[in-house]
Amino acid sequence: MDSEGMSEMDNVQEMDRAYIAHTYGRFPLVLKEGHGSVCRDENGKEYIDLGSGIAVTSFGFGDETWVKAVEAQLHMLQHTSNLYYTEPCARLAQMLCERTGMKKVFFSNSGAESNECLIKVARKWAMEHRGAEYSTIVTMKGSFHGRTLTTLAATGQEHYHELFQPLTPGFLHVTPEDTEELEAVLRKEKVAGVLLECIQGEGGVIELSRAYLQAVEELCRKYGCLLLVDEVQTGNGRTGKLYAYMHADLHPDVVSTAKGLAGGLPLGATLMAERVQDVLGPGDHGSTFGGNPVCAAGALSILERLSDEMLRDIAEKGQMVRELLQGQKGILSISGKGLMLGIETEKAAGQVVRECMDAGVLCLTAKDKVRLLPALNIDRDVLKKGVEILREVVAS
Ligand SMILES: Cc1ncc(COP(=O)(O)O)c(C=O)c1O
Repeated sequence: MDSEGMSEMDNVQEMDRAYIAHTYGRFPLVLKEGHGSVCRDENGKEYIDLGSGIAVTSFGFGDETWVKAVEAQLHMLQHTSNLYYTEPCARLAQMLCERTGMKKVFFSNSGAESNECLIKVARKWAMEHRGAEYSTIVTMKGSFHGRTLTTLAATGQEHYHELFQPLTPGFLHVTPEDTEELEAVLRKEKVAGVLLECIQGEGGVIELSRAYLQAVEELCRKYGCLLLVDEVQTGNGRTGKLYAYMHADLHPDVVSTAKGLAGGLPLGATLMAERVQDVLGPGDHGSTFGGNPVCAAGALSILERLSDEMLRDIAEKGQMVRELLQGQKGILSISGKGLMLGIETEKAAGQVVRECMDAGVLCLTAKDKVRLLPALNIDRDVLKKGVEILREVVAS
């Protein structure tokens, strides 16, 4: 308490209310420090973190290897601009390409920006190879691709669009799992590419079936357009594969990713396959901070550790969570893969999240589901304890 009887939380909340745009519905919680998958608020109360900053802190808070890598780079160079070469950025691009078979990477700072680049690649490729009128990007209803005016246009949820018209033109939204609808659109419209999330994250942890994903790829090949995959939330080990498209054996032409890539630093990446590797030329795109060496060093320390063994472990921990929750009182269904799980509960999801917070567990919602996105290296006992608390909250 200060001399006016205000707690630290009151002060922070006051300042936030006074000076920060009111875009976020925040919980009344000021987080102060964390280690691994446990963090503390300003009163020292502990929370098991099952949200990892919405799939960002891939190896938890203050992971030693990550901190060392980031710190070492901070002591060397924190930024150079893209007028010069830096090693972490080049090594990270090489690692991403070697692990995916993609040929080129463009680095940016966020998921939305990685999708902006993906859309630019698709449009320029289509203009050069098929004609300027082939500019339409087809995306899925229920999708989420970002908050810029173009990625909002790509997002297949009307309510995000209403207040910001006119959005970038040239986007159409189709119903997931309906191949006939997609084929009708591809036959009729001049389409540059089809963009999808293999598991719609913000849309409610909705998995697109392997059969549908493969059908989309076939249709893209049949109608000569690009397959574009948004791995912003599903990527970098989250689902138990390096990228979620690998579960369905897809061959995307462009992949976007961000969130967990640099373990808590802002970094986006757009990965381009052979067919589109030379689409972007000098001056076509750029970003002041994109590929920043500190963020790249952080990302290298994450990607280096996402071994096959680690990916198997992520899948197994996801299975453990499912087994702890399946068929339990108040649990209606579980969706998702690896450590990206959506839980449909009898109790309203928002209420479950609030009660979990009171009980010392941080989790998320996605539409009407409770969403879990714990750190990929979360200790099994910590995960079990957190899920058991969630289970009690859901049952009560
Ligand atoms: C699938 C997907 N794409 C894009 C974005 C936008 O990412 P960012 O908030 O980093 O711009 C998100 C964010 O939730 C996402 O889940």
